[in-house]
This record gives sequence, C-alpha cells and structure tokens, in this order.
Amino acid sequence: MCGIVGVTGNENAVEMLMNGLRRLEYRGYDSAGIYVNDQNGKDYLVKEKGRVADLAKAIGEDVHGSTGIAHTRWATHGQPSVANAHPQVSADGRFYLVHNGVIENYIELRDKYLQDVTFKSETDTEVVVQLIDYFVKHDNLTTLEAFRKVLYLVGDSSYGFLLMDREEPDTLFVAKNKSPLLVGVGNGFNVVCSDAIAMLNYTHDFIEMQDGEIMILTPEKVDIEDEEGHHITRLPFHVSMDASEADKGTYPHYMLKEIDDQPTVMRKLAQTYFNDDGQVTIDDELLADLQSADRLYIVAAGTSYHAGLVGERLFERLAAVPTEAHVSSEFAYNSPILSKHPFFIFLSQSGETADSREVLTEVNAKGYHSLTITNVQNSTLSREATYTMLLNAGPEIAVASTKAYTAQIAVEAIIAKALGEATQQVAAADFDLRHQLGLVANGIQALVDQKERFEAVAKDNFVDQRDAFYIGRGIDYAVSLEASLKLKEITYIHSEGVAAGELKHGPIALIESGTPVIGIITQERTASLTRSNLAETAARGSHIMTIVTKSLAKAHDDIILEDVDEMLTPLLTIIPAQLISYYTSLLKGLDVDKPRNLAKSVTVQ
Ligand code: F6R
Repeated sequence: MCGIVGVTGNENAVEMLMNGLRRLEYRGYDSAGIYVNDQNGKDYLVKEKGRVADLAKAIGEDVHGSTGIAHTRWATHGQPSVANAHPQVSADGRFYLVHNGVIENYIELRDKYLQDVTFKSETDTEVVVQLIDYFVKHDNLTTLEAFRKVLYLVGDSSYGFLLMDREEPDTLFVAKNKSPLLVGVGNGFNVVCSDAIAMLNYTHDFIEMQDGEIMILTPEKVDIEDEEGHHITRLPFHVSMDASEADKGTYPHYMLKEIDDQPTVMRKLAQTYFNDDGQVTIDDELLADLQSADRLYIVAAGTSYHAGLVGERLFERLAAVPTEAHVSSEFAYNSPILSKHPFFIFLSQSGETADSREVLTEVNAKGYHSLTITNVQNSTLSREATYTMLLNAGPEIAVASTKAYTAQIAVEAIIAKALGEATQQVAAADFDLRHQLGLVANGIQALVDQKERFEAVAKDNFVDQRDAFYIGRGIDYAVSLEASLKLKEITYIHSEGVAAGELKHGPIALIESGTPVIGIITQERTASLTRSNLAETAARGSHIMTIVTKSLAKAHDDIILEDVDEMLTPLLTIIPAQLISYYTSLLKGLDVDKPRNLAKSVTVQ
C-alpha cells in the first residue's frame, strides 16, 4: 500500500522521483523519503513525516543526483515518523532500501542474524537492509548475491524492493513478490515504479516483472534474472494512457472529477464493446469458456464486490446462468463447494488486491479458467487470469471508488448480454444494451449537473448526523450497500445498507429522531414494499428520502432519475449517493480524496 519509484541515469532524477511520488500519494501518505546519488561521490538522504509536499519542502537546493529511489509510506510496522520512513539504511550507510509490503518473519531473521545491530527504526524493512549488509560483510557475498539470499530468507512475504549500493551508484536492484512493480524503459535512462501512472511523463514503455525475479537496472540496460539466476529476455509493452489523465485539472478533488467522468466512461464502453452494427463483441474463446460453465463465481472486495452483487442479477437474468458473488477474503478461507464446471470472474479496479489474488492463485492451481475485469492493464490479476477485460475508465486516484463501480457493472452487463445471446436467451436478445448505455450516460449527466442540489442535501440532512441508512430490495439493496460504504468511508458517519424487509428484524432499533433513511426504489415489483418500510422508520422519527426512477415516482419523492432498464438502474441510483458522500465529507472539512486509515489498493494484508 505504499508507493515506490526509482530512476537510474537521468540528471533530473530528483524532479522525476518527486513527480512520481506525487502521483503515487494515493497509495500512502504518512511519511515520505528520497535517496539520490550523483555518481561523483555525493549522495543525499531526505525523509519527512507527513505528505509528499512536506518532503518537497525539506529537500534543499543542493540535493541532486542521477540515480535514486523514493517512497511514500503507509505505515504497517511502526508509527509514521522520520525514523520509520523509507529509504531504510544499513548501519554504515552503504545500502539504501525502499519497500512496499510486509516481511512476515522479520523478527526471526533479526534475532537469528542481527543480534549485534542497533536498529534505528521499528520497520521490517530495516531488518532486510541490515541483512544485506550482514551477508556482504560476513559471507563475502556480492550485493546481488546477498540480495538474492535475503529474498530466499524472507520466503513468501510480500515485497516490492528497490535497493541501492553506494559502491555501485548507478545501479538499482529490484525484486517483487505479491506486490506490483514495473520497470520503465527510457532513452538513456531506466525507471521503476509501483504504478505506471508515476512515470508516464517520462516513458510509456514498461516491462512487467514477475514474482521471484530480480531486475538489475543501469542507465543502459535492464537485466532480468529468474529465481535461479538464469537470464530472461522480455520485451516492453506500451501503455497508451495519457499522463494528463492522471491530473485533476480544475477540479478541487479527484473524487469529484471521477464522479463526473462517468457519462464518458459509459459511452466509451459502448464504443469499445459494440461493433458498428450494434452487436456486442467479446473475445470468442472467453465466450466459449463462459458457455461451458455451469455456474459463475464473481470474486472481489469492497466496492468491486458490490458491483459483483449487481452482476449476480445481470448474469442470472440475461444469461440464465447461476451466479454467486463472493467477498474474496471470505472465499479464500472458507473454500465453498464448487459446481462441476465453475468459471471465475475477478472484479478489481486496481487488479492488485491481495485477497482476490489469493483466490486466483488457488483457482489457477485447480486448473479452472477465469476472467479479470480491471482498470489496470497488465496488473497482477490481469496477468494471472485466463482472460482480461478492461474498464477503460482512466485512472481512479481518489481512494473512494466511483467510476470503477459503474464501469464494472456496465462490463458485467456486456458479458451477460453476449453470453445470453450465445445461449439464445430471449431476455438477452431483447435487451438493447448499447442504446441503454446511452440513456444511462445521459441520466448520469443529468444528475452530475445538479451538484448544488446534492450539496444542499448533504448540508441539511447528513453533516450533523451520527448514523444513516440506505435501504432497498433486490438490486436496490445491492446499491444500498455501496451507497452506505461510500458514506462511511469518506464522511465517518456510521452507515448501513439494509435489505428493506430486514429493517424490522433489528436495525430499526437504531432509528432516532432525524436519522436519515434513504430508500432506493427502481423495481416495480417491490416499490410499494420499500415505501412501507420507509414509512415504518418515519413513524419512529427518521428523516426519509427517496431515490426513485421517473416511472415509479410520486409527487413527494426527492431524487427522481431518468428511466433506464430496471437491470441497469444501479448505474444511476449510486450517483446521488456518491455526490452526497462527497459534499458531506467536504462540508465536514475532511480530506475527501484520502480518508483516514484508508489507502488505495489493498495489496498487502
Ligand atoms: C471503496 C474502495 C474499496 C475497493 C476495494 C477493492 O471505495 O475503493 O472498497 O473497492 O479495496 O479494490 P479493487 O477494486 O482495486 O480490487
């Protein structure tokens, strides 16, 4: 959950590293640090508690170099402090290391090898850098040999490591396991980063790195070695994303920009996955694999899991295939009994979520086929699944996921339609999804154009509340869970998404005078039932609000949405909830893009 960058062979290394850290700040922001070497015997280490901007202020004008590493931290071992910030340094100042991940056996290793070392930090990372130093000195190993030995000793821990040695000042030693790292190839220089966004201003050509490999970067070349030290050749791939897509432009926050991006994302998906004749097009082999499955298992975490809950209904209704959505951290440890011919769909904005990857590893070991639906090309989940479909939503940088949720639902609908058509389901044949995505885009636009209105709702009904509830039935319940997650994670208001019919079985006890209860009503069959559940809470003093589609609306309803097919209403009903959460957080003076205790993409546990 930290961000790491490295550069070798560019005299603007400090600027490149700092720009890289700014772009990675969404992954961690409690302390940051940089180490650079100018190849003429001068080197600099600067670390600061707080944001990347605090580090930038601490860097003096004399700090310069052409090779360096940098890190923005999200504390796992040890409090945020200058001592615990990375790079961590060996006792005599020879080795410098930045690390993303967790070394599970660092205490055993410290006690076994480093009894005589006085540690300056509480981090697992310092143990690793001291161990490298130890093996170089005591076993007379080269830096590469010592690095390899330490990688062997830390076993299956999670890590992305960038190591520098003062005695080889233009070399970066790089290794990863269960943590993303990419090497970027420049003209006369090379870079490494935990997310391509960090270095898109400098290169678009990246080499993917596999777990267990070591890469040795110098300005002229990138050497790749497998676990046994054999050389590997791998060509770079091109990342077409524009660096400016990762900027927030004139928006005050990434979250607001990303909410506003959603109509464009819907139109883009319609363009990507439909041909000129309006036919839905997905990979033939994927379609054949899906057709031979007797049950689909959607595996995901957080917001992506909530998109999976909507997917469950889309696959069952359009393709008539039994579908189950699972939280990845539960699935990994509960080993549910699978059907005879399962097919797995992994939903992940980042493509890096550790719990989901754990399940995918198991799925691959059992020889089952899988699809990853992700926003990040060449991410770990994308590389390791049988198939990938991209969300093409552009970078999602705010910690709270917004456009990835709607894009995931749209892609699930696209696959469900393709599968349903292939198996001759009338529901799929009758469903004009391309046209519907156009209606959805217009419907979202109409909502994001009413920002003042949602700001007023946030001010009048949410800012001063302790609790809030979203309720609904069926697909509206699935959205209630996501709406409530959005509210709690960025406003710190306790919020629950409740199946409307379950209210009376317990949760209603929490309703007090003025508690906001928002009913999501988009399904004709259940509309009146949800309305009665709302009335029950109103009788106990709640402040009720409704989010309703036009055809089901009554005069007293609050937020009225354009009509779209009942199966796609989540693409609209979530928008008011996203905007209300955004404005409530803003009005409470909170850090909207970086809520406390959360960083984007949970790559370590
Ligand atoms: C909530 C949020 C998280 C993520 C979850 C999964 O706004 O962002 O709940 O949805 O951590 O992340 P991905 O989709 O990257 O696997």
